[in-house]
Formats: sequence, structure tokens, C-alpha cells
Amino acid sequence: MEKASQDSAKKTAGYRAADMVRPGMVIGLGTGSTVYYAMERLRERIAQGLACEGIPTSFQTALRAREYGIPLSTLDEYPEIDLAIDGADQVDPELRLIKGRGAAQTREKIVAEAAKTFVIVVDESKMVPFLNAPIPVEVLPFAATPVLLRLKAMGGEPVIREGQKKDGPVITDNGNFIIDCSFYRIDNPEEFERLISCIPGVIENGIFARYTKKTVIIAGSGKGCRILPSSDIVP
Ligand code: 5RP
Repeated sequence: MEKASQDSAKKTAGYRAADMVRPGMVIGLGTGSTVYYAMERLRERIAQGLACEGIPTSFQTALRAREYGIPLSTLDEYPEIDLAIDGADQVDPELRLIKGRGAAQTREKIVAEAAKTFVIVVDESKMVPFLNAPIPVEVLPFAATPVLLRLKAMGGEPVIREGQKKDGPVITDNGNFIIDCSFYRIDNPEEFERLISCIPGVIENGIFARYTKKTVIIAGSGKGCRILPSSDIVP
């Protein structure tokens, strides 16, 4: 997909998600370029009088929300929320996801857990027959080497993510490293999510296989939006 058409597909999906927000809702605000289109539309709706509050999943999202005039709150104020809007790197036919290109998957998963409905905004290129992207694993720096060895023993090819315009490892918003681990094809995402999370020192991993029942996918394309699974759980 060309960059311009991909951006336009992301915008279509992001705007559609923002139009699901109802007055008074508290919304999880994910991280990434597609979510930022949803926030762009929320800015317009807030300017027209919509009252809502957002819970950001990263420093970048919090900065963007402040710039857009989206009121922010926390999970301490609202441990349960109506809706979370987030992006994804891959979505399989059973609505299981890989997330974490932006290294924000830990806070994103905490916010997804708190949400009644988890709305994922993507362009059609993210819809895949099976998950095979490297899994981003947030790890305590103290545990990086043992975790690398455990992931290798599971058959993965793990590498510590390096910064751009920063020498050495990427440091997450929580002060940890990211290990990207390729398994090439993940046939049992539920099992992988559980097994990786059980390794001591792993904070969280980027497989989201537990929320399929409350997940709504909005996949944008040149022809508009495809909404999965069906409209009955769309607010
Ligand atoms: C950040 C994420 C993003 O939501 C995911 O990488 C999608 O980003 P984009 O919408 O820019 O393609 O998981 O940690």
C-alpha cells in the first residue's frame, strides 16, 4: 500500500472510531499514527461541545492530547472505562493482535483490560491470515540476558531494540528495554502470550489474544471502513 493511501485509510478508520465516542465517556487513548487521527477527530468534536476524558497510554499520546485540548485523566480516577481506541501492527481473522511497534504495549494492555470495548483502528494492510510479526517484549533491564536466553529456548530469535537518534537500547516510558522476538508464525497466540508473560523479568508482551470478545476492528481502506466482527457490540 502506498504511503498516501495508507495514511488516508488510517484517517478513515481513526475518524470512524472517534465518532463512536458518546458524551461523558472516558476513553483509553492508544499510541501510534492511526490513533492520532482518532484524536484529531476528537479535537473537532470537543470543539463542537463533546464532553469526554482520555487516558493516555504513552508520553507521546499525552503530549498530543494536551496539544489537541483533550482532557486527560488516570486509571486511579477511572479503573473501568467505556472504550479504548488503539492501533495494531497485525490483526488475525480471530481478532488477535500484535502490538508494540511504538514500545507502548504495557500501558496499552493495562488500558485495554480496563475497557468495556476495545476498538482497534488499522488500515487493511494490517489484516493478516496469521500472526508472524516480531513480538515486542518489555523487559526489566536487570533481566535482559536471562530473558533473551529463555526466548531463544522457546525457538525465538530475540534482539534488543536499539534507539534511533539515541545510542543503545530503546528505553520505554516505564524505564525498561524492549526485546523484539521473531517466531515467524504464531499458531497459538494465547499460549505464547501466557508463556512469555511467565518469564521472570518480563513486564508485558505485545500479543493481545485475551480481548477478542470485546474487540471491534475498524479497518480503513480506499473504499471506506470494514467493521469486525459485527455492529452488535459497536457502541
Ligand atoms: C504502539 C502500538 C501501535 O498502536 C501500533 O504499532 C500501530 O501503530 P500505527 O497506527 O502507527 O501503525 O502498538 O505501541
